[in-house]
Amino acid sequence: MADEGTKKHSILEFFSGIGGMHYAAENWSRASSSSRSVEIVAAFEVSDVCNLVYSSNFGENPIQRSIEHLDASYLDSFNADTWLMSPPCQPYTSMGKQKDDQDPRARALLHLCQVVQDMQRPPNFILLENVNNFQHSNSHDRWLQALGSIGFMVHEFLLSPTQFGIPNERIRYYALARRIGKSSWNPDDIGKLLRYIPGREDVVCAAEEVEEVAAYLDESSQVDLTPYMVADNDLMKWKHGLQGYVFDIVTPESRRCSCFTKSYSKYIRGTGSLLSTNFYDEEGRLKKMNFIVLPHSGSSRCIFDVEDPWSIQDLNAMRGLKLRYFTETEVSRLMGFPEERFKFPQEMLYPKSRLGYRMLGNSLNVEVVASLLEYLFKED
Ligand SMILES: C[S@@+](CC[C@H](N)C(=O)[O-])C[C@H]1O[C@@H](n2cnc3c(N)ncnc32)[C@H](O)[C@@H]1O
Repeated sequence: MADEGTKKHSILEFFSGIGGMHYAAENWSRASSSSRSVEIVAAFEVSDVCNLVYSSNFGENPIQRSIEHLDASYLDSFNADTWLMSPPCQPYTSMGKQKDDQDPRARALLHLCQVVQDMQRPPNFILLENVNNFQHSNSHDRWLQALGSIGFMVHEFLLSPTQFGIPNERIRYYALARRIGKSSWNPDDIGKLLRYIPGREDVVCAAEEVEEVAAYLDESSQVDLTPYMVADNDLMKWKHGLQGYVFDIVTPESRRCSCFTKSYSKYIRGTGSLLSTNFYDEEGRLKKMNFIVLPHSGSSRCIFDVEDPWSIQDLNAMRGLKLRYFTETEVSRLMGFPEERFKFPQEMLYPKSRLGYRMLGNSLNVEVVASLLEYLFKED
């Protein structure tokens, strides 16, 4: 088992999906001094498609066994000093039924709560990622109780990539736990939900310091973006409910876009931003067309015609905005996946398939996790 002063962290990656944790660990290692490295000794994931993407990018197959069936002695046999995991979030999402620890999808995490206590050689470092709201769940309480009972100190965070200068909102909960080297962590931070990484307050960016979306976009000269244009029948779906609905439209100059969920492109509203490449008129003014565009709280989010939402029947006006979906590559760039080492198989890309978006929606921001790993592995 690795112990304090170890140069190489041997990692078990649970719920590995498309390998967001794996990339984050590699990024951390690359950014650290050369004497600190990582090895993913095993990844566990039940999904065929996720495993296909994982193995095509890393050349290693995750172990396709349900985590509920891994026992303490089996996990001991890996001698891993670190666990990284993002358990299924459906039991906790505010839009879902919030069945919490009664949801079958919470079982694997609850199993790990027990197993980690039964192990002869439990890990020294654990990072767990989940949705904002997990912190209010019974599963959360059981996880913290389990870790507390075997001597872990836990620090909890609520962070979004925008705080790191990345123009993508994705507020997520993180629990970082360590059994050794605790003295570099402030005990006063226990029980708080930190909105920054201690010692890295400088990375919390003001809105105007966040990069423009343009830096993350594909070159239209190199990628055929036509398949990503929003179809006419979807364009008119902006109208919804009493207030008139809102598409979250951003432009290349925007310094934010909303969280891309696993339903991006399946549903057009509330699943992620749309990109307009024709949002300004020749003089650089916001296009008004025949409806009103209101800048929303300083960002380029738009609300159309709140006074009379039903008046807008003009498909041509909507077409004029040239709305398209962000491509899978653009979403993965915004989520910090390394372009040269991460690709989906062609058949998983829109419009043939929505699998790419689906898996990205379930994944995590690699850069945020890499920054948290620096804090997790901080030496005393
Ligand atoms: C929130 S996603 C994690 C995504 C991952 N961190 C990534 O970067 O793609 C949860 C993953 O857990 C997998 N999963 C759910 N229940 C599982 C179980 N009992 N055993 C193993 N994997 C499971 C799902 O297939 C899904 O890919």
